[in-house]
Amino acid sequence: MADDVARAKVAAARYAVEHFVRAGQRLALGSGSTTNEAVKALAGRFPKTPFECVAASRATEDLARSLGLAVRSLRAGDRFAVMLDGADEVSPALDLTKGGGGALLREKLLARLSDDVVILVDPSKLVRALGERHRIPIEVVPFARPAVEHAVEARGYRSHLRTAADGRPYRTDNGNEILDLAPSHPIDDPATEDAALSEITGIVETGLFVGLARHVVVGHADGHVEDRPRPTGAARPN
Ligand code: A5P
Repeated sequence: MADDVARAKVAAARYAVEHFVRAGQRLALGSGSTTNEAVKALAGRFPKTPFECVAASRATEDLARSLGLAVRSLRAGDRFAVMLDGADEVSPALDLTKGGGGALLREKLLARLSDDVVILVDPSKLVRALGERHRIPIEVVPFARPAVEHAVEARGYRSHLRTAADGRPYRTDNGNEILDLAPSHPIDDPATEDAALSEITGIVETGLFVGLARHVVVGHADGHVEDRPRPTGAARPN
């Protein structure tokens, strides 16, 4: 089963690099094990081509650099032709739950700066509604955490503080904490929920990615791939 998932991720990553990336583009790289496969596929397919990349996590940055890709910091005015990233859940409308790896703030920022956001998943990530299988991560300013916990519990969530291996609160690359929110039922209107959570002072960003994915590439263990584009004309937030 674990091997099947790994093969599916590789299939999605290779397809995306082959079909969505052209030599020399400016790329945004997300975070997580599927993004890692995309970084490896990128370095394998374009071994001598300079890409300018900005990565959503130190882990992705380190991997990309080790494979010879040119990773740099974000600059004023940056736009990206393509962003390659994974997801924790994908709804039929191509809305996403992200942040299982803790990089949701930088991932959402880079997604908003990208013309084509290509999300790579294995079939286990496909759900009927967000929150069905994965808690909703939110990035929270540590000082504000008790107030945020109170506010999200009043909205009907059970709130779980994410911890690191040493038992202390997990810290994001931005020095913040993560609360993983268990909804009482799957979320039928993620845009409204994202807006409501974003209103709570102390929440820096939510892991609900609404309207940002342009393509979802679903890889399968036997190597075949489904490419699900967002319907043309569907609104995409800036
Ligand atoms: C990182 O913060 C997340 O948004 C990841 O993109 C997500 O958790 C998917 O990770 P995997 O590719 O490892 O499943």
